[in-house]
Amino acid sequence: MENVTLNTIFTRRSVRAYQPQQIEEEKLQMLLKAACYAPSGMNRQAWKFVAVQGAERIEEMCRIGGLGGNPFYGAPTVILAFAQNGVIASVESASLALENILLAAHAMELGGCWIHAVKDIFSTPAGKKLAADWGVPADYTIVGSAAVGYPDGPLPEAKSRREGCVIVVR
Ligand SMILES: Cc1cc2nc3c(=O)[nH]c(=O)nc-3n(C[C@H](O)[C@H](O)[C@H](O)COP(=O)(O)O)c2cc1C
Repeated sequence: MENVTLNTIFTRRSVRAYQPQQIEEEKLQMLLKAACYAPSGMNRQAWKFVAVQGAERIEEMCRIGGLGGNPFYGAPTVILAFAQNGVIASVESASLALENILLAAHAMELGGCWIHAVKDIFSTPAGKKLAADWGVPADYTIVGSAAVGYPDGPLPEAKSRREGCVIVVR
C-alpha cells in the first residue's frame, strides 16, 4: 500500500549524528504545531513544550542539570515535553506529542531522536529552577525530549522488530 503517512512511519529512524546548521524557523514552528496536534486524554492538552536552540543553550542545560556530557548527538535543537501532574493521562499525551515531533521532523527531511537524559536534568533542583525560569509551571514534570536537526550522513537501516509482540483476537 502506497501512503505518505505510512511511509513516514516506516522510514523514520532515530538519528544520532547531526549537522551543526540550525533548522529553519518555519520548520521549528511546524514541529511545535505537530506536537500540539497530538491526541490528549480528555483533550486536556496538559503539556508544555520548550524548544532549546543552539549549542550554547543546549550545553548550558546539560551543565546546569549536572550531566557529564551532551547526550543530544550535536543536534542544534532540543524540544522538551513536560506533562502536568495529576491530569488524566498527561504523560501518555506528552509522549504522543513527542512522537508527532519525530514523525514531522522526518516528513520535513530532518532527523530526530528521543533523548531520555532530560529526566535526569529536570529532576535536579537546578534543572527545576531552569525550567521555572523559562516559564514552565512547577506542577509540570519532564516526560522526554526530541533532539532535532539535519542528519549528518544517511539514515541508519531499520532495526529488526521483535517477533511475538502482536496478538490478534477475533
Ligand atoms: C522512551 C524512549 C527513550 C529513548 N531514549 C533514548 C536515548 O536516551 N538516547 C538515544 O540515543 N535513543 C533513545 N531512544 C531511541 C531508541 O533507542 C530507538 O527508538 C530504538 O532503538 C529503535 O530505533 P528507531 O527509532 O530507529 O526505530 C529512546 C526511545 C524511546 C521511545
